[in-house]
Amino acid sequence: MKSPRKIIIDTDPGQDDAVAILLALGSPELEVLGITAVAGNVPLPLTERNARTICELAGRRDVKIFAGCDRPLKRKLVTAEHVHGKTGLDGIVLPEPTMALQPGHAVDFIIETLRREPAGSVTLCPLGPLTNIATALMKAPDIAPRIAEIVLMGGAYFEVGNITPAAEFNIYVDPEAADIVFRAGVPLVVMPLDVTHKALTSRAWVEGLRALGTEAGRAAASWTDFFERYDTSKYGSEGAPLHDPCVIAYLIQPDLFSGRHIHVAIELEGKHTLGMTVADWWRVTDGEANALFIGGVRRDAFFDLLTERIGRL
Ligand code: RIB
Ligand code: CA
Repeated sequence: MKSPRKIIIDTDPGQDDAVAILLALGSPELEVLGITAVAGNVPLPLTERNARTICELAGRRDVKIFAGCDRPLKRKLVTAEHVHGKTGLDGIVLPEPTMALQPGHAVDFIIETLRREPAGSVTLCPLGPLTNIATALMKAPDIAPRIAEIVLMGGAYFEVGNITPAAEFNIYVDPEAADIVFRAGVPLVVMPLDVTHKALTSRAWVEGLRALGTEAGRAAASWTDFFERYDTSKYGSEGAPLHDPCVIAYLIQPDLFSGRHIHVAIELEGKHTLGMTVADWWRVTDGEANALFIGGVRRDAFFDLLTERIGRL
């Protein structure tokens, strides 16, 4: 097997972030160089704590976890306790984490890692607002050409918004950060709501996780039960969109997904459309393509991969 792909996961756990992190830690194709927490679903003290809880649950106290930015570049923090609960990981009570948070700021870890590792060998995997990534790019523009790829969860086109009628949460929380990332010239793969709304959980899948009989399986099932309650009532669908694991699954098995290489701009001024990802899906402009914008997923194979990998923890 070829050497594992080096990744940094930037995250605001969140139950779906947690499942994404478990998927990454259960997959030998990936080497998690570190996890950087950002404010998003819940404030930073909780997202960094949750990242440590998830790694301990996976038996991976060796993973380096850093706290990053505690608010967007220019705006007040908007959180999503209504979706993720007060702790951000509601659904199961887990012991207080005892593994230490790494000293130093997440942004400096991202910069130092990209400068140390061979150019083009590290992939950034943002699962929350893009504040840490944008701050790193502003502080050290030299890292941009060294990033292999940024594979992120965020935005929407046909599915439009989930936190406002026009915008998806991760982009809406810090649209200025998203604008910096989408214009940085770094190869981008975007997992928008267009694809994550097709990655819908099912009762059978959740019960299959529980039937693994492992701590990780039980936790992932309980998190999904909690996370589902909001989306099923909102969308009336059976199951909830499992957003963030799409990023990690793409790294492991890109052929699960399909999309188009198109131009995507971030709306920064719209009174009603702030944070919208204006995706030129029909290529009606001559804007240079800056993102592989994903629209399709092979749902059953995606969930089979999730169960098989979480089953290894
Ligand atoms: O809009 C969905 C995204 O917002 C996911 O990353 C979820 O964890 C929240 O951060
Ligand atoms: Ca997230």
